[in-house]
Amino acid sequence: MPTLIAGNWKMNGLLAEAESLAREVREGAAGISCALLVCPPFTALAAVARVLQGSPVAVGGQDCHWEASGAHTGDISAAMLRDAGASWVVLGHSERRGEHGEIDETVRQKVLAATAAGLTPIVCVGETEDQRQSGRETEVVGWQIEGSLPKDFAGVLAYEPIWAIGTGRTPTEAEVATMHGFIREELGRQFGGAADAVPILYGGSVKPENAASLLAVPEVGGALVGGASLRAADFLAIARAADALSKTAPRA
Ligand code: PGA
Repeated sequence: MPTLIAGNWKMNGLLAEAESLAREVREGAAGISCALLVCPPFTALAAVARVLQGSPVAVGGQDCHWEASGAHTGDISAAMLRDAGASWVVLGHSERRGEHGEIDETVRQKVLAATAAGLTPIVCVGETEDQRQSGRETEVVGWQIEGSLPKDFAGVLAYEPIWAIGTGRTPTEAEVATMHGFIREELGRQFGGAADAVPILYGGSVKPENAASLLAVPEVGGALVGGASLRAADFLAIARAADALSKTAPRA
């Protein structure tokens, strides 16, 4: 898979704003060769998908339910995301784990539902600041991987240290390298050779200014971008940083 730059818009964007951001991303994507994805809130998903139809920019949801349909008030199924134009879904984001009590097993069930509906899941893992300070970051991430990914996982992993999300703080390149190397090994240990194909994104305060150095770290296969993805210019600058590293072949 080419380097993936994914924008997580979180709970931001009324319809008109989301459409205009999508239009700007579409226009800017013309000169970019890495893979691009935007994940708008559910209410804007269909509208954004219409704006991006026929463009190289893919669309994803930010969560889905583990069941295909039924009595689940307020929830959205993977098939509904597909129906609205999504081909990807972010699962197990720390804001879902923290604010909605999602546990690894819930995430694993959602991955199965997403895959069954034909969506590519991006599963998020990452430690809290306390966990890192007590030297338990790899242990925590190892458990999250083991609990959140089903056998035959065919998606993308995103390492997002919780203390780096929305804070402007990022781990050092050495810390990212250590964690991504650990995740690569852990995937191999848990899933065998097939896991080599799973890209590992970095997420947490990725900006145009730090994108090149973070994306250059070995085993970083792209970025999951929150705040900076709400400004098309910043999101596209991050994508250009990925292109400049020539980790990607030009789009055919
Ligand atoms: P941030 O968010 O870029 O605003 O830190 C990243 C994320 O939560 O995916």
